[in-house]
Amino acid sequence: MPNFIEIEQVDPGRELRLPNVLSISNTNSNDAFLTSCRAGGVIPHPARMPLQMAAFFIQFLTDQADLVLDPFAGSNTTGFVAEQLQRRWVSIEADNNYSNQSKIRFGQFNNGTLAGGVSKWG
Ligand SMILES: C[S@@+](CC[C@H](N)C(=O)[O-])C[C@H]1O[C@@H](n2cnc3c(N)ncnc32)[C@H](O)[C@@H]1O
Repeated sequence: MPNFIEIEQVDPGRELRLPNVLSISNTNSNDAFLTSCRAGGVIPHPARMPLQMAAFFIQFLTDQADLVLDPFAGSNTTGFVAEQLQRRWVSIEADNNYSNQSKIRFGQFNNGTLAGGVSKWG
């Protein structure tokens, strides 16, 4: 990512600040998850995280085999990415319609690689 960390000086002479620490677009409309949802007539969770955001924090804050907990998991972006990054994970979601979308995510595995493009950093 060209602008992973953006530092800007708001006013000349004043300290630099970090207004947008993470710059990750959320404009993807054709990834494997959305394609599978469309094919299955499933309305995708309306507030999904970008995969890359979950990947950043999981790699920043945990090591392989650590346990990642997402108590408000929605379509289980967190668990899906945690699995890719060899973390154990527990995801909790109150709405069955959304938790079922986790199955769609795990249907995306293809030869052990993620269709959707999580990068592994570090
Ligand atoms: C912002 S969404 C999470 C979206 C998720 N990060 C993703 O990428 O799909 C928050 C979720 O929390 C769930 N939720 C709200 N209250 C909850 C509760 N008490 N226990 C479990 N899940 C809850 C909602 O149903 C909603 O799907």
